[in-house]
Amino acid sequence: MTSTSSVEFNGQVVVISGAATGIGKASAQLIAARGATVIALDFNAAALNELSKELSLAANQSHVCDISSQDQIDKAISAILKDHGKIDALVNTAGIVGPSNTVVEDVNWSDFEKVLQVNLYGAIWLTQAVIPSMKDKKYGRIVHLASIAGKEGNPGLSPYNTSKAGMIGFVKGVAKEIAPHGVVINALAPAVISTPMNSNTSEETLKYMISRIPMGRVGQPEEVAEIVAFMASKACSFTTGFTFDASGGRATY
Ligand SMILES: NC(=O)c1ccc[n+]([C@@H]2O[C@H](COP(=O)([O-])OP(=O)(O)OC[C@H]3O[C@@H](n4cnc5c(N)ncnc54)[C@H](O)[C@@H]3O)[C@@H](O)[C@H]2O)c1
Repeated sequence: MTSTSSVEFNGQVVVISGAATGIGKASAQLIAARGATVIALDFNAAALNELSKELSLAANQSHVCDISSQDQIDKAISAILKDHGKIDALVNTAGIVGPSNTVVEDVNWSDFEKVLQVNLYGAIWLTQAVIPSMKDKKYGRIVHLASIAGKEGNPGLSPYNTSKAGMIGFVKGVAKEIAPHGVVINALAPAVISTPMNSNTSEETLKYMISRIPMGRVGQPEEVAEIVAFMASKACSFTTGFTFDASGGRATY
């Protein structure tokens, strides 16, 4: 039955991609504080090293891994399973914005494809890599960071919109495949959150984004991490294929 202990992670192995900064980092901090053995993946080795020091992660608890490479994902997940024996939860937060303020006909195809490779193919490959061991254990939680952009679409952001909408569709269908095996998969769609991803966003764009948020402010990564932690925990036991919201009231669906 659901109880306070259901949101704790004692004895659990939780893999977090994009853990070095932003939402991934806040999630790693919170989930580690709730008792998990956190395994951090990121391609930013320097920032990953900082996180490892902060959370006192052992060498086999952090992997430099570029999720736009299926080979690197497979190697990292195999190493984690060999070292730790299981993966209770995967939290995939690694992502890039790609071309912005660019109408679709002006987007260079290699730039478009790069966003799909990181945000969508990376999510698919990570999911494919963790499902077999989760099925064996008859337990698993998979969390993908989508975006309000995948639900509503933002002008000038077609690669990002496409990648996040693809992720939401992917989660819906896979959820039905793995539901009988005790494995749950959900997405989370934040509006604008104060992280390094938005550090170069212009004042004007931020103002526009905030104007669409009834709470009248940007979200904080710690607020998103609270939802991620729930989604990655045993407590998230009867919801799958869903896209959770973290938008300060912008999306009420
Ligand atoms: N910040 C927002 O406003 C916002 C809103 C909606 C959705 N999101 C989504 O939330 C997730 C986290 O974003 P954030 O705001 O924390 O951004 P961020 O830039 O702070 O963090 C993203 C992390 O992913 C890592 N990363 C990027 N590409 C990678 C790759 N190919 N392989 C491995 N690691 C890679 C980066 O090094 C970084 O540590 C992203 O998927 C993003 O699309 C963010």
